[in-house]
Amino acid sequence: MKIIAVSNQKGGVGKTTLTRELSACCALRGYETLVVDCDPQGNLTSSWVDADVYEATLAHVLIEPEASPTGSKSEALPLEDTIVESPVESLDLVPSDIRLARFEMQADYLTHRLRNQLREAFD
Ligand SMILES: Nc1ncnc2c1ncn2[C@@H]1O[C@H](COP(=O)(O)OP(=O)(O)O)[C@@H](O)[C@H]1O
Ligand SMILES: [Mg+2]
Repeated sequence: MKIIAVSNQKGGVGKTTLTRELSACCALRGYETLVVDCDPQGNLTSSWVDADVYEATLAHVLIEPEASPTGSKSEALPLEDTIVESPVESLDLVPSDIRLARFEMQADYLTHRLRNQLREAFD
């Protein structure tokens, strides 16, 4: 498994566009590709799928159980349970959620948990 992260603090510099094109190119070249939308704005997610296609998002995976997006004390979901298909063959997506904004001041927490989840699911 290879993980490529696209990150820049500045807005409007092409993060979403690069992520979308790069992940689609990987998939079209035959690599099984999972694109994980970590941006609370969710522009990458909405560029691929309608909101009624999914219920679970990355926020449901990363959230602390006592502060789950539904407000209930449910367990965090496994990453696999949030994956949806994109219109591109071999390209799957973990949708974003506005509730990821709560992690913006804890980027290390988000990346650490996400890395562990990816390893658990795909290593
Ligand atoms: N390589 C590029 N050439 C020209 N315009 C681009 C390029 N990459 C992105 N854009 C445009 O720049 C704007 C911001 O890109 P976006 O990917 O949304 O940035 P970010 O995700 O960093 O906010 C969009 O209108 C997008 O279409
Ligand atoms: Mg963006």
